[in-house]
Amino acid sequence: MNLDFEILRALRAAGEGPVSGADLSQRLGVSRAAIWARVRELRSFGYEIEASPHRGYRLLSAPDLLHADDLLARLGATRVVGRDIRVFEETTSTNDLADRFGRDGAREGVVIFSESQTRGRGRLGRRWLSPPRKGLWFSVLLRPPLRPQNTTWLTLASAVALRRALEAETGLNPQIKWPNDILVNGLKVAGILTEISAELDRIKYAVVGIGVDVNLNAGEFQPDLRKTATSLKLALGHPVSRPELAVAILRELDADYQRLAEGRFDSVAEEWERHCVTLGQQVVIRIGDREIHGRAESLGEEGALLVRTEHGRLERVVGGDVTLESAGGRA
Ligand code: BTN
Repeated sequence: MNLDFEILRALRAAGEGPVSGADLSQRLGVSRAAIWARVRELRSFGYEIEASPHRGYRLLSAPDLLHADDLLARLGATRVVGRDIRVFEETTSTNDLADRFGRDGAREGVVIFSESQTRGRGRLGRRWLSPPRKGLWFSVLLRPPLRPQNTTWLTLASAVALRRALEAETGLNPQIKWPNDILVNGLKVAGILTEISAELDRIKYAVVGIGVDVNLNAGEFQPDLRKTATSLKLALGHPVSRPELAVAILRELDADYQRLAEGRFDSVAEEWERHCVTLGQQVVIRIGDREIHGRAESLGEEGALLVRTEHGRLERVVGGDVTLESAGGRA
């Protein structure tokens, strides 16, 4: 049994009300002194826990840090995503860690957060800046019953889940840019990097890596990103609770992973299309040295973007960098 998890879960379940130390110690089968020791430790992390000899303990506030037991306590039961949560202070890339878990045979659903990444990466070999405690940098290990060529479904399902969670938690109107960027007011606020280990006809495991720029200030973005990226804090004018947002995202990811498991690809695609800024737009696609100009028409099979080129041909785009011409080459 994990004491921090049990204590935080009991305090959260009690809401504004107190939980008596005697009750806790009886329920958890440990001494009152052991409970008090954990409460003191949680306080040292920044949890404001009132302790009154007569009434018991009350959770007044929680810090803006990622604590695995607290995330688990807030999340409650899920089907797959978030059954196990690990938090690291610093790592190279959470996708690397999740990949190691995958190779070692870990059960699907484990989520790995890191407060910072030293070698966070994005699509197309780009760097993903991940300063300490400013965002959510995490990866989910999954073992989807999909063929490798259907990996895009995982990214699309993750994008719609992420979009919904961001909307619910912030009231903003996030949109999706093909294949996996989340934009707010036309600027990128989050991205998804899906990596797989596969045999010819079967995914052995997939790692869905998600980065959300939550509380970064304008000066904290790399100079080359300042015109194209933003954070939730910049868009809202106030900071956002990272643990609350993390839990909301995991819940939605779990729901959409279930949608995929049930084979409801159409409903994922329909939601994705409804919130996609790319479709119907004139776009420029850069794939290596090649540029395709055309109109993004629809989502093709296996999640490809179907683009009607200026020469009238329908091109099926599965990779590359998409820029909306209306954004003047920005987004
Ligand atoms: C993109 O938009 O290009 C994808 C960005 C993905 C960033 C996340 S942060 C957590 C995980 N670890 C990484 O190294 N990358 C992903």
